[in-house]
Amino acid sequence: MKINRLKLRNFRNYEELEVNFGDSLNVFVGKNAQGKTNLLESIYYCCIGKSFKSVKDKDIIKWNHEDGYIKVEAEKKYRDLSVEVKFSKKSKKIVMINSLPIKRIGELIGELNIVFFSPNELKLVKESPEERRKFMDIDISQINKRYFYQLSRYEKILGNRNKLLKNSENIQVVKETVDIWDRALVQSAKKIAFERDKFVKSIAPYTQKAQSYLSGGKEEIELRYISGCGVNLDEKFEENFDKLLKKNLEKDFKLGYTSLGVHRDDIDIFLNGVEVKSFGSQGQQRTVALSLKLAELENMYNEVGEYPILMLDDVFSELDSDRQERLLKFSSRTQTFISTTENKNLNGIEYLISNGKILNIK
Ligand SMILES: Nc1ncnc2c1ncn2[C@@H]1O[C@H](COP(=O)(O)OP(=O)(O)OP(=O)(O)O)[C@@H](O)[C@H]1O
Ligand SMILES: [Mg+2]
Repeated sequence: MKINRLKLRNFRNYEELEVNFGDSLNVFVGKNAQGKTNLLESIYYCCIGKSFKSVKDKDIIKWNHEDGYIKVEAEKKYRDLSVEVKFSKKSKKIVMINSLPIKRIGELIGELNIVFFSPNELKLVKESPEERRKFMDIDISQINKRYFYQLSRYEKILGNRNKLLKNSENIQVVKETVDIWDRALVQSAKKIAFERDKFVKSIAPYTQKAQSYLSGGKEEIELRYISGCGVNLDEKFEENFDKLLKKNLEKDFKLGYTSLGVHRDDIDIFLNGVEVKSFGSQGQQRTVALSLKLAELENMYNEVGEYPILMLDDVFSELDSDRQERLLKFSSRTQTFISTTENKNLNGIEYLISNGKILNIK
């Protein structure tokens, strides 16, 4: 799939913009703070329905304006597609697909698939499990809409169970009603856990390939899905998880929240047999994070029959020239958007960005 055209009005530091993109490599060049990342963010927004930064929708509107607007025109294998987002300071945003407003973001997910990478994604390898769950969730949701809905279902059930734990006067009250939530929770957790496990298994070989390719070496990478439910992923999952929830009820009541579940899942990443989070060099961690992202490209291609869009924000400053070159070669299979401060004469269309405007395209 690819994005042919982008239109912005009062989005971040852009007042008015209309631009066409090329099929393969699109490079946004410019000094710091000119609007390169903002441009990427606007495209990303139309793919995922939210920003890659954690911000309020209202902060996306150009300062001192009441509303903002993004439109992308895209082309998929079998059909064309337009996505529009209207932001307003006074009301909730409106997302439209082919001019028709959608009711839930779930309708947008999976329409325009995207893989995003920035230096910030190092968190994926280095930081808390939450980052790795987010990685799984955004990716699986794009491939599998039911998964996206299942996640919000799980969160609702978990929220209700936690409310009960927190607000009940004594454990007896909890025991009287917790069963309803537990039954729903174990069912939902099972679906999510099995999907995540399957996902990790399916990206593992692609991650290995990307890692070897990028590092030009023989580093052995191993991914392992770690279930936060504390039980094996087998046919007795629901029964065993339910038992464990009961066993932990007193503890959970004291804590005021549910201590087990897929909200505690993680992925362990090993490089040459040791945990990369603790023992990998900075460069290794960076390459692993990038490999995971590149694995998404291949996995999505395999699952949906079409490559997603690849977005690389400011990654060049962090990679040596060999890796840069390999990365560019790898990305030639998809439409790619890159932002960079250096004019490197990459083999693509260059858009010179300055103060919320595209000054030049060559
Ligand atoms: N809602 C907004 N309205 C107007 N300007 C904004 C808004 N949000 C952010 N900006 C401004 O947009 C500018 C450009 O941001 P952006 O992150 O796109 O820069 P960049 O070109 O990617 O720079 P860098 O090379 O440093 O990453 C920032 O200086 C920021 O102050
Ligand atoms: Mg930037």
